[in-house]
Amino acid sequence: MDLIRQVKDNAKRNLQRIILPETYDHRILKAADIIIQENIANVILIGNNKAIKSDSSNLKLKNLDKATIVDPEKNDKKDIYADLMVEIRKSKGLTKDEAYEMLKNPLYLSTIMIKNGDADGEVAGAANATGNVLRPAFQFVKTMPGINVVSGAFLMILMDKSFGKDGLMVFADCAVHPDPDEKELAEIAVATANTTRAIAGLEPRIAMLSFSTKGSAQHEMVDKVINATKLAKQMDSTLKIDGELQADAAIIKEVGEKKAPGSEIAGNANVLIFPNLESGNIAYKLIQRIAHAEAIGPVLQGLAAPINDLSRGCSVDDIVNLVAITANQAIAKKV
Ligand code: ACO
Repeated sequence: MDLIRQVKDNAKRNLQRIILPETYDHRILKAADIIIQENIANVILIGNNKAIKSDSSNLKLKNLDKATIVDPEKNDKKDIYADLMVEIRKSKGLTKDEAYEMLKNPLYLSTIMIKNGDADGEVAGAANATGNVLRPAFQFVKTMPGINVVSGAFLMILMDKSFGKDGLMVFADCAVHPDPDEKELAEIAVATANTTRAIAGLEPRIAMLSFSTKGSAQHEMVDKVINATKLAKQMDSTLKIDGELQADAAIIKEVGEKKAPGSEIAGNANVLIFPNLESGNIAYKLIQRIAHAEAIGPVLQGLAAPINDLSRGCSVDDIVNLVAITANQAIAKKV
């Protein structure tokens, strides 16, 4: 199964407007050129028109004249955007002058364009740290209804195809929220179910992971996972979810049958929800390195509109792929 091809094909069928704010990075311009050429999304570039055109010519790119370019220094909508920003942050005392200043920052301008309905999603982070990409999104796009916490999922393509669906599993949170409480953990499970449907095209079977299976250990950390499982079921009664489960009980049939008899998840989970960011981040990186899995993400979830964060070491292909994933999230949001 070629997940990325599936995701790109879906994006091509329903073109979304995706912003790339970091046009001073040549990888972004090269990726934009490919995205336009392959017709994966309608590209919006933030930056100076002349500088982008000059870089495009130097890089011998052929397609960037088809991108929409928005210049933060000469922006027709800056008054509308500043008013909207002040309205959204009025409880924090944001002034209009501060909003105008923020709009000169492409990362802030992108989020407010999305909020104003002028774009469907954003991909950034090639030249900015995670916090700088996420903070404007948290402040202005905010979370989707019913979700208060943003988290990050990885699509794990495993060498051993007996796990998940032909080796495809989804892990979360591996990227954003260090220490979720039980309600936040429940929200992460619900948001990951949405990601699993929207991007992986799978019906989620969610294991809420712990160091205990069905009462084998007693500890407040175990209680958190048990309570989060109950809360997630209350949030979405159709969810196929079980916990608390140890990792082996979640993914190995014989262990699941022994430790959690009667569970419809134990032994055949395709989504793993980790109890905190430490365990999720460590687990995905170990599996990526030791088991040579391909880890696609993080796919940010829980935001009211799709915004995704690249690694600063990303390749041009990584950017193209993340734009396609972001477009899929935008499509799913409109259904
Ligand atoms: N979901 C939703 N909103 C959030 C979240 C979240 N997970 N975290 C913070 N916020 C909101 C806050 O409520 C606050 O909103 P407000 O201004 O309206 O009151 C705003 O965002 C800023 O909050 P801070 O606490 O100041 O958040 P900060 O900007 O310091 O940190 C960050 C947020 C950067 C995401 C932090 O949680 C972090 O560093 N997480 C770890 C990221 C990381 O390093 N991941 C591992 C590497 S990634 C990888 O390996 C793939």
